[in-house]
Formats: sequence, C-alpha cells, structure tokens
Amino acid sequence: MKDKILGILKENDDFVSGELICKEFGITRSAIWKYIKALKEEGYDIQSFTKKGYKLINCPDHLSKPELKPYLKNSNLIKDILYFESIDSTNTYAKKVANDALDGTLVIAEEQTLGKGRFDRTWISPKYKGIWSSIILKPDIDPILVTRITQIAAASVYLAISEQGLSPKIKWPNDIILNGKKIGGILIEMSCEMSQINYIVVGIGLNINLDQEDFPEEVMDKATSLKLEASKNIDRKVILADIIKNFEALYKDFLVSGSISAALEICKVNSSVLGKEIKILHRGTETYATAADLNEDGNLIVTYEDGSIKPLFSGEVSVRGINSYT
Ligand code: BTN
Repeated sequence: MKDKILGILKENDDFVSGELICKEFGITRSAIWKYIKALKEEGYDIQSFTKKGYKLINCPDHLSKPELKPYLKNSNLIKDILYFESIDSTNTYAKKVANDALDGTLVIAEEQTLGKGRFDRTWISPKYKGIWSSIILKPDIDPILVTRITQIAAASVYLAISEQGLSPKIKWPNDIILNGKKIGGILIEMSCEMSQINYIVVGIGLNINLDQEDFPEEVMDKATSLKLEASKNIDRKVILADIIKNFEALYKDFLVSGSISAALEICKVNSSVLGKEIKILHRGTETYATAADLNEDGNLIVTYEDGSIKPLFSGEVSVRGINSYT
C-alpha cells in the first residue's frame, strides 16, 4: 500500500487530496497518515495540508523498487528486484535464493556488512554510497563459457562510466580502474553440474559517492569513487540502469551467437594491462610475463620470459602491474 500511495504522489505534480487516496485504495485517512509517516521516515519529503492533501517534494537517493523501477522500464532482463537497506552480501544472499529465483533477479542493497571481493577479500560497501548488486542468471549454456560473462559485465560497467564523460580502464579480468585507482569490481559465482548451469550470480560493486574518509587507510591510495574523480555527486540509479542496459545488450548477443566479440573489443581497447609487463600471483608464487591479448573466452594470453605463450584463467590468478597497482 505504501508503494501505491507513493506511486499516486509521483504521478501528480500538485497536491493529491486525502479523499482521493481514500477512494482509490479503500483505506481510511488515518491509514494514509501512517503510510505517509513511514515514507517520510524513509527520506521522502512530503508536504501535507489539511485542506489540500499531500504533495511529493523530493525523493531520497535510494535504489528501492519504487525509485529504481522507472529507470528499468525498458529492461527485458530484470524480472524481479530484491531490495535491502542492509545485507551481509548481495552475492551471498543471491546464492541462497537462486534456486527459487527468476532468471533475471536483481538483488540490490544500500549497504553490505560483509561485502566480498575476489580471493575472499573484503569489499567496502558503505550505506547509500555505491552500487552493491548481484544479478541471478540461469542461461542454458556450457559452464565453461561463464568466463565470457565476466568480460560482458566489465564492458557494461566501462560503458556506464564512460557515459558520464570519464575514461575508465578495465584491468583483466574484473577490475574497473579510473585515473589509476580501483573504482569497481565484478565477482561471478556459479552453481553447475558437469554440462549444465543451475545459476550464475553476477556481483557488481561500483564506488559511486564514497568520500575519501569512507576508504580504510590501507586502500586509500588504491581506490577511488566516481564522486571523488568527477567532483560531484552522481545519481546511482542512472549508472545502475546504464550498466543493466549495456549488460542486457551484450548478454543477449552472447546468448544468441555464443560470441562476446563486442564486449571483448571494449575490454581490449580499454585494457590497463594489455601490452604491459605484469606480475602473476598464483598460489603464493610470482611469475613475470607480458599481457599480449584476450582470447575468445575472455582469458588473458600472456607471453612468459622463456617465450612460451599461455592463457590465464581468471579464477586462479591475480595480475599486478610491475610498478603500480594497475
Ligand atoms: C573484486 O574486485 O574483487 C570483486 C568485487 C565485487 C563486489 C561486489 S559488491 C556486490 C556483490 N556482493 C558482494 O559481496 N560482492 C559483489
């Protein structure tokens, strides 16, 4: 009911009378007041006058269903939205509910208390400041092809940031870099049988309106946010909708053709590692190589110092620039 009342206030630029709301939804005036109070507590600025009724003045910068839905109205991919003010991790939750969830369920939270990065690292996810989201997908593809979806997600985030007039880079396989610092990351988790996928969880984390003090000291010089780089607050809904729009187009192509050529092109042209000397960290050992190319699966092709050329599989290695983070 609360969302319905919010809906009617959003549809009207002027005051909506209490009488009209009572009639429309068959509720009492005191019930309306209760829902308006709850909306105000959520951050909605609503004016109320006894004779005129209620008028919506301002909406909070939240990613809740009523705020997000209008931005996703052209999406065929997102079939359901599961929204949380606070959660341990959207990926962890998505995995918990994935078997019963619809293909195309978006799990989104304002804050993560146990956000996860690759290799069990912590992902800082302060409230209302970023995009902490996971998409549950159930594609009918061979599990071996899932690495391709990391590249699709990376290209989608790259495009959404570029649309803000900024120039990010993609650090294979899953880091999004802006001005030499990490701004976002992708964590794909999967449940599958030998040749069949039960579900994939595409976790996307993007630092949007974090301030310098939101980053712990140990990552301060390695991480940044869109706000810090663009020197202005950024509307998270616009960026999330852009990521989903881009992901949807590239993912659809992939499901139809099996190929990720468009996403690969974006990842190659805007790579922060291709052509560079890199340090490969694998189970405690460090190896040096040159990042040469991405293959059709989205694996990084590297040339080792002895001249041998091999693909790297994203789950297994961490890649570092030799002299810098990227
Ligand atoms: C990385 O760069 O190591 C991957 C970071 C992925 C973070 C996102 S935030 C939403 C989703 N839920 C999580 O716990 N992690 C991913």
